[in-house]
Amino acid sequence: PKPDLAATPPMGWNSWNKYKCDINEAMVRRQADAMASSGMKDAGYQYIVIDDCWQKSRDAQGNIQADPERFPSGIKALADYVHSKGLKFGLYSDAGVLTCGGRPGSRGYEFQDARQYAEWGVDYLKYDWCYTGTMDAEAAYTIMAKALRASGRDILLSICEWGDNEPSKWAHAPGHMWRTTGDIFDAWEGKQGYSIGMTNILDKQVDLWSHSGPNRWNDPDMLEVGNGGMTKTEYEAHFSLWAMLAAPLISGNDLSTMSEETLKILTNKDVIAVDQDPLGQQARRIWKEGDLEIWARPLKGGDRAVVLFNRSLEPKAMSLSWDQIDLPAALKADVKDLWSKAVTKNVKGQFGGTVAPHGVIMVRITPKV
Ligand code: GLA
Repeated sequence: PKPDLAATPPMGWNSWNKYKCDINEAMVRRQADAMASSGMKDAGYQYIVIDDCWQKSRDAQGNIQADPERFPSGIKALADYVHSKGLKFGLYSDAGVLTCGGRPGSRGYEFQDARQYAEWGVDYLKYDWCYTGTMDAEAAYTIMAKALRASGRDILLSICEWGDNEPSKWAHAPGHMWRTTGDIFDAWEGKQGYSIGMTNILDKQVDLWSHSGPNRWNDPDMLEVGNGGMTKTEYEAHFSLWAMLAAPLISGNDLSTMSEETLKILTNKDVIAVDQDPLGQQARRIWKEGDLEIWARPLKGGDRAVVLFNRSLEPKAMSLSWDQIDLPAALKADVKDLWSKAVTKNVKGQFGGTVAPHGVIMVRITPKV
């Protein structure tokens, strides 16, 4: 069986959303420095993952080579640096002959690449699905999972197959997490001509909740918080909803220059505690009427996390009654607003409030015993 590396959803940083192929070792070191010193590491983030375009070619023996101009010190030195900060190191490859960015893929080199990753000190592999032709997805990811295990190093496998081959049915065997959609775009919703926005991805998660759990997470793609395409309220909604989904929290912004506002969202420890809840139960959408939705998930010990979500452009009064989350109407509970931090004690039967346009109210409900 695969190693137990993701009892709770993985947390980290990945280069793709912000940098695409414009990456280099100095930038990656800056991210590691910032993760360690900004409070991100203390909040639980640990992986620094280099996405596509670090590779250049293979040598005569077939060994994968980093781009010597962008990574002149080599991958091992960079992994050592990341480890010296008390963090973990991740890399990207692809099951096909080429990566999505046209670099050498791992097809036919799975065991050789896995040995190389282990030598370099890789802790996390994101494994993509471009240039795979008629390959069988389950078989391809199973080969890489075996190769990683044969390398002798514990390496988390992040499956990036976009949901087309129904990964929720099989990806939990080889992998620790799997993508459920195409690539996220840093926008509230997608427009014609470019990819899907945050809310479009959310819509595709509704029926997937039963597949998720410890060491097997649905991955609605990486975070866009701090990349500039959404408002503060929208990014708070994005972060809240991803936490409700028990999503891997992989930040995708420049950690070395982020604003206080971005840092505050990414390090909201009450919201992170919902994401990282040991029960690992992904939220369900328990109510929807037009632009208004309620999402809820049970937490370990009997607490509930609830999000009131307003997709409209007007403020909306919303409320939740206890029967919607299977609590007796007479039960008293403490309700903590996870953004304002206000706690209301001994709430009976229901709670509610005015939800900002494109915003959420996210609470933790603690029943009194
Ligand atoms: C695919 C993946 C992205 C990213 C790029 C890199 O599109 O879904 O997350 O890894 O490839 O080329």
